[in-house]
Amino acid sequence: MSLVLGLESSCDETSVALLREDGAIVSSVVSSQIDMHRRYGGVVPEIAARAHLTNLPPLLDEAFERAGARLEDVGLVVATAGPGLVGALLVGLAEARGIALGLGVPFVPGHHIEGHALSPFLDLDGAPARTLPPRFAALVVSGGHSHVFSFAPEGISLLARTRDDAAGEAYDKVAKMAGLGYPGGPVVDRLARTGRVVEPFAVARFKGGSLDLSFSGLKTAVRDRLAALGFSPNTGVALRGPVLAEEDAPPALRDLLAAFQDAVVAQLEDRLDRLLAAAPFPLLTVSGGVAANSLLRERLAAWGPRRGVEVLLAPRALTGDNAAMVAFAGLLRHRAGVPHEGLSAAARSRWPLESLPSALPGESSPID
Ligand code: KG4
Ligand code: ZN
Repeated sequence: MSLVLGLESSCDETSVALLREDGAIVSSVVSSQIDMHRRYGGVVPEIAARAHLTNLPPLLDEAFERAGARLEDVGLVVATAGPGLVGALLVGLAEARGIALGLGVPFVPGHHIEGHALSPFLDLDGAPARTLPPRFAALVVSGGHSHVFSFAPEGISLLARTRDDAAGEAYDKVAKMAGLGYPGGPVVDRLARTGRVVEPFAVARFKGGSLDLSFSGLKTAVRDRLAALGFSPNTGVALRGPVLAEEDAPPALRDLLAAFQDAVVAQLEDRLDRLLAAAPFPLLTVSGGVAANSLLRERLAAWGPRRGVEVLLAPRALTGDNAAMVAFAGLLRHRAGVPHEGLSAAARSRWPLESLPSALPGESSPID
């Protein structure tokens, strides 16, 4: 048996996964540092790096134990090389390089965003990964990224990106302004579902037909309405008083959050519609932390069939950062034999996905 070992440490989740060569997940463990960063209202890079150092060894043990496997069963090692926090990335990279060198097996630097984009092809119940179609589009919405990519044999291209805040960042900022704590996505999602869209927000669009995304105007509009409700960051309860408990959120706040959430999803639908009109794609993957959002999942699941697009949502448990997705992305690159930097890969804070060669086979040469 030859297993793929994956390590992820780009931000505030430490994760280890073991995959079979067919992409089946044998074990996947994730340790979140959210509690350590919560009091700072965001991820502190130095704390993240140190926590990865502490968390990685026991997580490695646990991943092998759950898989009933030994280190010698590993035939390929993948670790996230970027984009992410350099100090945090270095921890996983150094460990992975050491293991690959020690075992004498290949090492592939994994791309975090590619991992997200491909995560919907993975199965949580141990089935082999789905075979990738020759072309597809990928919506990646997380705390640090909001991108739409096109994957094709001839290359990966960026179709749209946020010009300011990422979708998850907007959730986090809105929650912070309302005193709901960090991270904001899950709590805003839940509260929004208990409110009604009384006063919808306009969908942001750029002049000149750009299909880029933008969430900072929406965040400002939410701030203004919050202020009108007495939730101003300067004068309201958000900073003066204790953090607002979820169950104490007043109906007007729930309605406002419902309008915010609706506007986020409506903007994503708007861009996908226009991208589809510009260049059709048969399949869309939806991934990243915000892909856990209940309304986004519902609406995009309905959006696809109406337009003849197959929509693959990342399994909820794989929407957040995890090593399984990175191992899978590295495995596909290894199988496709595309060039990469191997053991000499550096940790990169910025690393445009579209600068990587495509790992998708031409239409006539399936990789399986
Ligand atoms: O992918 P991820 O774990 O980390 C990054 O690579 O950024 O994404 C985390 C982001 C956070 O901004 C969090 O608030 C958001 O995903 N998020 C959500 C939900 N769950 C997590 N946003 C909206 N609705 C959710 N249910
Ligand atoms: Zn991520």
